[in-house]
Order: sequence, then C-alpha cells, then structure tokens
Amino acid sequence: MKADEVRKVGVVGCGVMGAGIVEVCSRAGLDVLFVEADPELVERGRRQIEASTLRAVERGKLDERQRTEELTRIAGTTIIDDMADRDLVIEAATEHYDTKREVFRRLDEVTRPEVVLASNTSSIPIVDLAAVTRRPAQVVGMHFFNPAPVMGLIEVVRAITTSDETVEFSRGFGAVLGKTTVLSKDRAGFIVNMLLIPYLNGAIRMLDEGFATREDIDTAVSLGLAHPMGPLQLLDLIGLDTALFVANVLFEEFKEPLFAPPPLLKRMVTAGRLGRKSGSGFLRLHVMSRSFLRLVGRSLTSPRAPGRTPGV
Ligand code: 3HC
Repeated sequence: MKADEVRKVGVVGCGVMGAGIVEVCSRAGLDVLFVEADPELVERGRRQIEASTLRAVERGKLDERQRTEELTRIAGTTIIDDMADRDLVIEAATEHYDTKREVFRRLDEVTRPEVVLASNTSSIPIVDLAAVTRRPAQVVGMHFFNPAPVMGLIEVVRAITTSDETVEFSRGFGAVLGKTTVLSKDRAGFIVNMLLIPYLNGAIRMLDEGFATREDIDTAVSLGLAHPMGPLQLLDLIGLDTALFVANVLFEEFKEPLFAPPPLLKRMVTAGRLGRKSGSGFLRLHVMSRSFLRLVGRSLTSPRAPGRTPGV
C-alpha cells in the first residue's frame, strides 16, 4: 500500500503523545481508532483530544464544522483485536520495554500481514520491537514531538531489519500528515534527543549548582537563543520521568558522562515532581497557563501507571 492510500489508522495508547497523534491523523482526513487499557483511559484520551481541538478552533487553525468532522472520525476501544481492519498502526503506549514488546506481538497477530507497524518510542530500539513480530521488515520508528499537533517533525527510524519500502512509506505518510520527516539510525536518542538530553542535563546541573535561578536560565535561553521555551520549562513539558528514562537509556548505550542524569533530576522524579503531568516540576502548576495546559492536552488526572498494556 502507498502512504496516500492509507484510510484507516490505529493508534495504541492515548496519553499525551497518543492523543496528539490521533488528532494529527484525523486532521489529515483519516479514520482513526485508538486503543487504551480501560474505559476511563479511553475517556481521558477523548477529553484531551476535545480540549486540544478546541484550542485549535480558538487559535483559528480549524472552524467548528471541521472540528466536529474531525472528532467524528475518531473512535476509542479497549480491545486491541479491533485494530484488525487498520491500514497502519502507530504505537504510542507507555515507554516501557515489556509493554511495547507485548503490544507489537499482539498487533502482529491481529493486523493484516502487509500492514506497517510503527512505534513512537523515544528510546527503545526498534529492532527489539521488530523481533517479536513475523514482519520485521515492516516495523519502523515514527517519533513525533510534543505537542504533536503543533510540532512539524517526525523522526523516521530505520532498524537494521526495516525495508526500504517501509522507510519510503513512513516518510510518505509523514507528508500526508503535513509533517517534515528526517531519517535516523536505530540507536538511542535518534537525532533530537541525542542533542537535547545533554542540553537539558546541563540546565539542571546549572540550577543545582546555584549558577543561576530557574527563571534566569529559562529567560536566557528563550531570549538569548530565541527558543520558544527555556530548558526547565521544556523539561516540565516533556515530563521529568521521561527525560530521566531517556537520559538513562542514552547513558547506558554510550557511557558518555554528558548523558548521565543529574542527581537533582533523579530526586525530583523520586519526589513525584514530574512536570505538567503531576502538577509540579521545576514550575508549579498554578503558574502554568491554563491555555498552555490545554494545548499540550494535559488533563489534571494522574498519569497512567507504567506497564499497563493498552487493549491487551
Ligand atoms: N492544532 C494545531 N495547532 C494548534 C493547536 C492544535 N490543537 N493548538 C495550538 N495550535 C497552534 C496555535 O494556533 C499556535 O500557532 P500560531 O503560532 O500559528 O498562532 C501554536 O500552535 C502555538 O500555540 P500557542 O500560541 O497557544 O502556544 P505557545 O505560543 O505557548 O507555544 C509551544 C506552545 C508550541 C509548546 C511552544 O512553547 C513550543 O514550541 N515549545 C517547545 C516544544 C518542544 O520543544 N517540543 C519538543 C519536546 S522533545 C520531545 O517531544 C521528544 C521526546 O522524546 C522527549
């Protein structure tokens, strides 16, 4: 199948990233079915999508009629077998090795054999997901950025097992979604996180050493480098637990001290200060703008416990 022939997309997981991917696919006119672990999480995912599309209307990106049509094209389920009629499935489940492997094993069972299975993982080797399927040539990374409806990039990740056709299909599908794609080898961090993590770690160390205040570090980067937000604000957006997880994976792979998570990051995660998802991180929730929370699809419920496998 060619990328522009895809009509029905499946998305596994409807947390912050999954909800964003669902929205992006529906905006491209596709029928989208997402799967979550239980009805409450299906409902939470739907609420995130409703809030984010409302934001798009408020900001003039969509009109009300388009929003209604977009929401009509989206359905949620708790049964992974419902992915059977999908032309492409993008997995955005929790960043947990065994969970993702189980999702891929099940997707391989239930989808047509020619269907491409993509993962939004930011750190798990694509080859490890390909290895549990009978179609390793059709398993690929499609790494979106948060907030997915706004960010223009997808990293397409080619494992040693991924075929040229699958890479071409994935890049074509990125274009269908209106995104720019870049191609990365299947090694920890791909392109963006490989550059991002040392930068974020540096900002945390700077704060911990009392080199500058949180506000001044963020202001320096926002105004001095014209970034849309400073590194500590960005950590709150990404989630400190996610940043810690990715830093650990990078350090494990390359043994490069710049990737080693700073002690303050570990302590913040242990204390449950995970950023926007927990209501407090380097900034406290009450100083996070409501509109911004809606933009990133952040509902005020607690994040999904790690290791739950959507629809399995
Ligand atoms: N659909 C489409 N567009 C939408 C939208 C939606 N649902 N919701 C908002 N928008 C648009 C707005 O219309 C606006 O567009 P405009 O500039 O043309 O008017 C734009 O998105 C920004 O929205 P806002 O003006 O409301 O919000 P801010 O100006 O506060 O920007 C931000 C918020 C986009 C998050 C910006 O601060 C930003 O880009 N931050 C950096 C984010 C970043 O770096 N993300 C990558 C994280 S790393 C990652 O994800 C990898 C992982 O593996 C760790």
